[in-house]
Amino acid sequence: MRRTVKEIKSLKDGELIELCGWIWNKREHGKLVFVDLRDGTGIIQVAARSGLTEEASVELLKSLNRESSVRIYGNLARDPRAPGGVEVRCVRAEVISPSMEDFPIRRGMGAKALYDHRHLHIRSPRMSALMRVRSNLIWAVHEFFRSREFVEVDCPTIITAAVEGGATLFEVNYLGRKAYLTQSVQFYQEAAIFGLEKVYSVQPSFRAELSRTPRHLTEFWHVEGEIAFCDLEGLMRTIEDLVRYVVLRTEELSRRELDFLRRRIRTEEVEGEFYRVKYSEALEVLRRAGRELEWGSDLGADEERVISSQFDRPLFITHYPKEAKAFYHKPDPSDPRVTLSTDLLAPRGNGEIVGAGVRADDYEQLQNRIEEVGLNPEDYRWYLDLRRYGSVPHAGFGMGIERVLKWILDLPHVRMASLFPRTPTRLYP
Ligand code: 4AD
Ligand code: MG
Repeated sequence: MRRTVKEIKSLKDGELIELCGWIWNKREHGKLVFVDLRDGTGIIQVAARSGLTEEASVELLKSLNRESSVRIYGNLARDPRAPGGVEVRCVRAEVISPSMEDFPIRRGMGAKALYDHRHLHIRSPRMSALMRVRSNLIWAVHEFFRSREFVEVDCPTIITAAVEGGATLFEVNYLGRKAYLTQSVQFYQEAAIFGLEKVYSVQPSFRAELSRTPRHLTEFWHVEGEIAFCDLEGLMRTIEDLVRYVVLRTEELSRRELDFLRRRIRTEEVEGEFYRVKYSEALEVLRRAGRELEWGSDLGADEERVISSQFDRPLFITHYPKEAKAFYHKPDPSDPRVTLSTDLLAPRGNGEIVGAGVRADDYEQLQNRIEEVGLNPEDYRWYLDLRRYGSVPHAGFGMGIERVLKWILDLPHVRMASLFPRTPTRLYP
């Protein structure tokens, strides 16, 4: 019976085992061959030498290239000299399929070459560990929403009108008609709350962003949530609870991977209360850091970096001016120049990880906002309809999965958190 690397590490000394995997590394010392055998669960050293191992098997292991797939029969041996204190003493080795050539991924390769070979690079134990952390994070997201009785909804990806502004829309030819890839499923979620009240989804969003920053992808995974009868305060509490839960739970689920990656998730960053700063105060923070930003302008990546590097916990920036936010944001009744909106910035210069706000729920007001920003209300007819039949106050948010991973794992670029990242210059593989 085949065992995984993870399983055999807890078996008894001397036990006979069968193991399948790939040759990650190989070292020869005279008659001795050491193979680091990799499978989906880890790496283990396999030792082969004549006398112990069938002669043909020793020759086979010597001849095989890295990443050849093999089946090993042998005995488990606890040996303090072996990495991790265990190895497999090989009795017989069989090739499943050889690597036809020398494996193209090598130590010290540049980023471009690695992303050109992403389909092969993602086999590395490092990449596997990263993807496991990502998977744990998404699991934690589902746990959070489920525990709060949110209903998961699946929304369309092909749409007819912009959510987040026309500049970043990807156009698709929809059987001869013009359509777009979605930037956010928010509007569909807004429709869904009338039946379900609290909904969430985890889906890709698309942005034709030319900005080549370490935090922009053209396709990213978007956790979005929408809540009926919710105000700005309730919204921020939900986001804070979500982010705290997801970070702590991901850390808890990913101990093995984090050890392997030699990373520590700074859980202390989410344990305390998140900061809250109004947009106008954020401009003050900027000013004190020697940056002037005109009231009304949106905070760019650079401004967010400056602001968030001065905080040791996530911070909400609230009450953005109308002109800095999309049309669907509800103006603050006590100061209509600003909106009941908030972005959550991750500390240490990481910048925005969540975009959120209370929605304009009044029919006239929403229609006027659509016209004010130069859009055609006809394109938003069904969305406006939601305000014609029993509209209620509601609010929602979107959180980028790659952004959160970049923050908690201290990655230099969001693309590292994606199996096959899409950026302005990267569409293959
Ligand atoms: O702030 P954004 O644009 O908000 C929305 O799309 C809302 N409609 C969401 C909602 O309220 N339902 O995007 C939300 C989050 C950002 O905070 C960021 O984490 C992520 O999505 N994001 C990106 N991540 C990677 N690459 C990009 N190009 C991203 N654009 C947004
Ligand atoms: Mg945003």
